Amino acid sequence: MNIVLVGIQWGDEGKGKIIDILSRKVDYIVRYQGGNNAGHTVVVGNKEYIFHLMPSGILHKDKICCIGNGVVIDPAVLLKEMEGLINSGISIDNRLKISSLAHVIMPYHRILDQLRETKRKHKIGTTGSGIGPCYADKISRCGIRMADILSPEVLADKLKDNLKEKNEILRKVYKHKGFDFKPIYREYLDYGKTFASFVSNTAFILNRAIDAKKDILFEGAQGIFLDIDFGTYPFVTSSSTTSGGACIGTGVSPVKIDKVIGVAKAYTTRVGEGPFPTEFSLGFADFMRKKGNEFGATTGRPRRCGWFDALMTREAVMLNGISEIAIMKIDILGGFKKIKVCTAYRYKSSLFKEFPHDLKVLSSIKPVYKEVQGWPETLNKPKCYKDFHPNAKAYLKMLSDLLKAKISMISVGSARDDTIFLDC
Ligand code: IMO
Ligand code: MG
Repeated sequence: MNIVLVGIQWGDEGKGKIIDILSRKVDYIVRYQGGNNAGHTVVVGNKEYIFHLMPSGILHKDKICCIGNGVVIDPAVLLKEMEGLINSGISIDNRLKISSLAHVIMPYHRILDQLRETKRKHKIGTTGSGIGPCYADKISRCGIRMADILSPEVLADKLKDNLKEKNEILRKVYKHKGFDFKPIYREYLDYGKTFASFVSNTAFILNRAIDAKKDILFEGAQGIFLDIDFGTYPFVTSSSTTSGGACIGTGVSPVKIDKVIGVAKAYTTRVGEGPFPTEFSLGFADFMRKKGNEFGATTGRPRRCGWFDALMTREAVMLNGISEIAIMKIDILGGFKKIKVCTAYRYKSSLFKEFPHDLKVLSSIKPVYKEVQGWPETLNKPKCYKDFHPNAKAYLKMLSDLLKAKISMISVGSARDDTIFLDC
């Protein structure tokens, strides 16, 4: 079975944990979009692994992990993650496959990302890792791909061309001194040599695997409301985070995808700027942030927190063709008297049941809430569905009804076995 897994809020839903669990059942795990702006956390025993580029399934020693053509790769970050794994005794030889078509993040992408942000009136809150400028170059047809850093002549040509333009922009617009050709050329040729044995035609590998009846898990990064088309533009990332992105970013046809699973937190969080209809007021957000340890895995920034937004997530179910949902961190909601879920938005005299596209409207709507009774905080974690407090069960049923999707997994803590499967 070929499964696509996507986050259905603004990222940080807990995808890493579900990917780690589902990885046991598949043969291949593939990242298909985004870059090291992602931060996927997997806890194994006492050890916490945070992956930014490496598919989270790499911890399963017999699985093949691919970084697809839709990903943008910062070679320095990838190298660090590869070294970290090797130092932990996890072999990646013959298991890590990197698409030769994936674009490479260059030093000028990182700097441009950060400098552009300083000039914006409405800041995006980018991670500053060069993701946007790298995808912009890909679309402008001047990007540098993994295949290009394997070839000294091609790299020299492309880098010279790029530096001519980028240095002019950096100097004239941003008063930055620009970049010299030689150090970057040497550094990236070295990366090319290091990665050469991992680089291949991953579309071919994956399609051959499908022909051989192998199972693939497509690991989404970010969340649907950070999608370049369907997110809260311009407060989004620069890739297609929807399930459709899995096909574009790997070269696997849509007809080969069997199922799409959505991951959502039992409440909502967001890092960076942009509208957030159900956001808590400052004091409560602070309380929730501490309770849920809501600090970014990539940048360490405090996450904004709010109630579950069923209008948003219902739209995500539609956009992705989701049939199953994993609800994460339900334990964090324990101990509240009342819990709210947003079911619609009110704007002046209109009632919205669809996600509005007008930023001005979105920034001034008032959420319409359904309120449910909370449940006590407990030290005994539920081991299966029947162990949940009746009010927690009622909350989960309400989410499933509002989203029109089956809840198949519920997470009650960060450890691997703190996950409840609903058929238990
Ligand atoms: P995972 O995979 C949460 C947010 C950034 C910023 C916006 C644009 O861990 O869920 P970018 O660097 O992409 O130009 O930043 O998107 N963002 C994320 N927020 N989790 C992520 O990934 C994110 N990746 C990007 O905070 O608001
Ligand atoms: Mg994150």
